Amino acid sequence: MGLVYLDNAATSFPKPPRVYERLREYLERYGGCPGRGGYRMAKEAEAVVEETRALVAELFGVTEPHRIIFTLNATDALNMAIKGTLVAGDHVVTTVLEHNSVARPLNRLERRGLIRVTRVGVSPDGLIDPEDIRRALTDRTTLVAVIHGSNVTGALQPVEAIGPIVRTHGALFLADASQTAGAVPIDVEAACIDLLAFPGHKALLGLPGTGGLYVGPRARLTPWREGGTGVLSELPLQPEEFPYAFEAGSPNTLGLAGLRESIQFILQYGVKWIRAHELSLTKRLLDGLRVDERFTVYGPSMPEHRIAVIAVNVAGCSPAAVAEWLDRAHGIAVRAGLHCAPGAHQALGTAPEGTIRISPGYFTKEEEIEQCVAGLREAADALWRTAVTV
Ligand SMILES: Cc1ncc(COP(=O)(O)O)c(C=O)c1O
Repeated sequence: MGLVYLDNAATSFPKPPRVYERLREYLERYGGCPGRGGYRMAKEAEAVVEETRALVAELFGVTEPHRIIFTLNATDALNMAIKGTLVAGDHVVTTVLEHNSVARPLNRLERRGLIRVTRVGVSPDGLIDPEDIRRALTDRTTLVAVIHGSNVTGALQPVEAIGPIVRTHGALFLADASQTAGAVPIDVEAACIDLLAFPGHKALLGLPGTGGLYVGPRARLTPWREGGTGVLSELPLQPEEFPYAFEAGSPNTLGLAGLRESIQFILQYGVKWIRAHELSLTKRLLDGLRVDERFTVYGPSMPEHRIAVIAVNVAGCSPAAVAEWLDRAHGIAVRAGLHCAPGAHQALGTAPEGTIRISPGYFTKEEEIEQCVAGLREAADALWRTAVTV
């Protein structure tokens, strides 16, 4: 039995062939520690890191590449943005859809009585109305944190409309691009985004252990990790220069070398092309699911308002049982449950069991979408029979 991998929202698989090919060469030739030596191998390793930074900047329309800070993953970047900008007395506007990597840091600061948080709701389709964000702003609002693409329903939020509202008000706009970086065109200038958090291992097609945060010129960020930077070592405190201020410790150079290869691959095809390709897979999947009345599909009705993440439930069956059945019977990998975003499931009415999440990716083939739809039909028959017998 082969593997049909439809869990790209968790992490992308496979990676572009050039990532596998170049990593061995990288370990053999450039294994030095970047910024920590004047010898050739260390300099070559540093060049790899800086090339990756420039590629990320190109991808997001960032004119100053040193404003891209590399992190462990998107969670690390989001914590850095939230804890690095907020001070006691601040008010934050966010949404009910946020992943725990935004919701939990905010909840904790709120419970400690340090900040106030307003959580904006969504339409029945799972979309945020920018006017709701505008109405939630107060004179104490310093940060607006919004998920760009929902990791539960795939709803693509109108960040281009939200950003100018936040900018005019004078707050900072943090966009969680965990599900969109590499899959949807993003221009931080056009969308007035001050802080953009992204993982390297999802649609950017890189390795686990990579991610980053774009920090725009309006943001004043305090580092939450201090230590060695390889430069300005004589200073008693963390240097203020970008990117050193926020990149203490030896970087994940192998991961960043992989990210350089994967972003080169993405730029070669273009994010617009990738978006069109994933939209076509999404439409196919939606068409297949909507003809069977046993399936409930959640999220926006217009495919254009979606990314390639589909939440579905099968009447009478638990999402976990269906996902387990798909894996066992057909080697189809999907994810069931709350997807680390309990607020989104409460808004959808799918808590506490959650949904089945199907997330095709760059390398998904059309026949795999058909296999998944057929597998879900079989699962519905098989599990329904079991439920009736029991
Ligand atoms: C919307 C969203 N935000 C944040 C994260 C956290 O990403 P990471 O696992 O790279 O820390 C995820 C991961 O699934 C996500 O989907």
